[in-house]
Amino acid sequence: MTMTAKGLAGVIVGETAISTVGKAGAGLTYRGYSIEDLARHATFEEVAYLLIYGKLPNASELNAYNERLAKLRVLPAPLCEMLEALPMSTHPMDVLRTGASMIGSLEPEGEGGRGAAYVADRLIASMTSMLGYWHRFAHRKQRVDTQSDEVGLAGHFLRLITDANPREYARKTLDTILVLYAEHEFNASTFTGRVVTSTLADTYSAVVAAIGALRGPLHGGANEAAMELIASFETPPEAEKSIKSMLDARRLIMGFGHRVYKSGDPRSDIVKELARGLAQESGNSTYFDISERIEQVMMREKGLHPNLDFYSATAYHLCGVPTVMFTPIFAVSRTSGWVAHVIEQRDGNRLIRPNADYTGPPAREFVKLHDR
Ligand SMILES: CC(C)(COP(=O)(O)OP(=O)(O)OC[C@H]1O[C@@H](n2cnc3c(N)ncnc32)[C@H](O)[C@@H]1OP(=O)(O)O)[C@@H](O)C(=O)NCCC(=O)NCCS
Repeated sequence: MTMTAKGLAGVIVGETAISTVGKAGAGLTYRGYSIEDLARHATFEEVAYLLIYGKLPNASELNAYNERLAKLRVLPAPLCEMLEALPMSTHPMDVLRTGASMIGSLEPEGEGGRGAAYVADRLIASMTSMLGYWHRFAHRKQRVDTQSDEVGLAGHFLRLITDANPREYARKTLDTILVLYAEHEFNASTFTGRVVTSTLADTYSAVVAAIGALRGPLHGGANEAAMELIASFETPPEAEKSIKSMLDARRLIMGFGHRVYKSGDPRSDIVKELARGLAQESGNSTYFDISERIEQVMMREKGLHPNLDFYSATAYHLCGVPTVMFTPIFAVSRTSGWVAHVIEQRDGNRLIRPNADYTGPPAREFVKLHDR
């Protein structure tokens, strides 16, 4: 069978029981639960447990899971030494890619009873610490304690990055953003992780490859580009004028459009309200107002809706998170989804190896080096 859908758009490449992305009117669900319910009622830790272990935890399971993740936040000494050796100019996505790879060699999967679920928990918990440790060392030469009394990873991350007691609304916002980013079916990074897993490689390798796929601006990197765009304007009218000229020049506006959601990303409405609340709380709504104006222009001129990356940029900013940390937070959260897919791929695995339509020259005579 010949198949040439560019970018595999619309092509079904496998089955999953983990999430629905706008299918059959179901909207976005994780293991059957709607994203709206999860965002409203569950913490990120409950969602990570749901994705990795297949069911929502009860109260005692959640307590035990929170305690387990809290212990797993602590970084091994050789990893701290490696983080200190990374240049200050390193992008934190490279910090994560390198750190996840190193922890994979310090604590290999398959040794000491470590399976994919251990790797998931270890990575989710320690990645926030890697980011915080590296950030504080690179920028302030401080060696921070990667243990904290924070119950959840959102608070732990904010405390490490901002070196302050997080505001409750910021903690809650970041926790909800982690819920929203946790899983999204066969997106580019998850598919990458499944391809790696299909070769029978280890979970760390799948996650490291997925981090690489997430880094690009057409995938996870879009929220950083969206922030740079929003921050480049001082007023909504200025934003409107510039966005129109960018569209005339056929430039992409980061944080808009989606391969699957053509009539709106359900996560965007949720994060937009969080961003609005943060703007009200801070008493400074400039970025939120600029964002809303860009949204209006994009709808009027192109009929395009914002995706999750657009308003999450403003929300992160108002929580005090530096722009370079936006995609890394996405990676921390999505690790729960990636590993759920690793586990699913292993169950009934077959090597993922598609074919291509050949468009090169026809068969020809080889010319020896001295005759060329
Ligand atoms: C996400 C994305 C890659 C989806 O791409 P896709 O499904 O291949 O959609 P297409 O590129 O075919 O887009 C269809 C049309 O809308 C335009 N378009 C799509 N997203 C656009 C955007 N963000 N800004 C301006 N125009 C956009 C395309 O240029 C194309 O126009 P054309 O038909 O005149 O050529 C694309 O919308 C995009 O690049 N968005 C910006 C990056 C982003 O926010 N990524 C995060 C995704 S969650």
